[in-house]
Amino acid sequence: MGTARVAIVTSDMGLIHDIDLPLVLAGLRARGLEAEAVAWAADSVVWGDYHLAVIRSTWDYADRLDEFLTWADTTARVTHLANPASLVRWNSDKRYLLELAGRGVPVVPTRVLEPGDPCDEGDFAHPHGVVVKPAVSVAARDTARYEPGRTTDAVAHARALLAQGRAVMLQPYLRRIAEGERALVFVGGSFSHALRKGEVLTEPGVIDNSREPHPDLVQHRPAEAELVTATAALEALPAAPAPLYARVDIALDDTGAPVLMELELIEPYLFLHTTASGLERLVEAVAVAAQARLTAR
Ligand SMILES: Nc1ncnc2c1ncn2[C@@H]1O[C@H](COP(=O)(O)OP(=O)(O)O)[C@@H](O)[C@H]1O
Ligand SMILES: [Mg+2]
Repeated sequence: MGTARVAIVTSDMGLIHDIDLPLVLAGLRARGLEAEAVAWAADSVVWGDYHLAVIRSTWDYADRLDEFLTWADTTARVTHLANPASLVRWNSDKRYLLELAGRGVPVVPTRVLEPGDPCDEGDFAHPHGVVVKPAVSVAARDTARYEPGRTTDAVAHARALLAQGRAVMLQPYLRRIAEGERALVFVGGSFSHALRKGEVLTEPGVIDNSREPHPDLVQHRPAEAELVTATAALEALPAAPAPLYARVDIALDDTGAPVLMELELIEPYLFLHTTASGLERLVEAVAVAAQARLTAR
């Protein structure tokens, strides 16, 4: 039998800054696989040469969404792509939160404004303020929170996004985010490890696209209720092959109930540098999937 070849899919930025990337490559190579880091948008990559392509640090995808989704569809035709292209497409637009809510998953209360919709200032009034964010975004870009008295600023932010033809998510600001947003990592459908990160939108009224997206990381042991919410979210996914990896981001609402902030199936940072066992689980899952494709060919 030959050697399984794996592409760990990244970006120009990921090649430099993704600290998990060398760990995953080393883990796969130690198992005898051929593993390479490949930027998704790099020229003249023959994706069909790989048995498996695993999307990881494609951090520039949100700026080039159509191109990226086309790349995912095209690549999935010539190799096995994880996560599956259909899930990647579905997950690229945060409007999936409403779909999951419709299937009974507890999510951050969310109203979506589409370009052309009226922007009623009354909708932006909330006792603890609101968060305005684009439906397509990563790393808190073009995202801000507004204190209760600043509805005019919040409306102006939303209008500016709508004028760019972007759908807008409007949510109450969950104050308990200060106690930490939970990031539960699942590998091959099973819970692997979790971290807690600090508040990202520390300064109200400010759009700052250079914010640290994962401040003050600490290990986290999820409460049973957090696992229940995370599992409910994963079970409510649209029919598709199961995701190889998932990060379920959870916040606590004002009652302390865990609610889904984001379900990350495209390029979540999995914090593998913080956990040898988590790294091992991811490497194992990738190796098994790649070997299966090698044998199937
Ligand atoms: N409704 C909210 N209440 C409190 N904080 C929020 C809310 N929405 C977003 N945030 C903060 O902004 C960050 C980025 O928002 P998120 O929805 O996770 O989008 P992304 O990570 O894709 O930029 C979150 O990690 C959280 O710290
Ligand atoms: Mg997030």
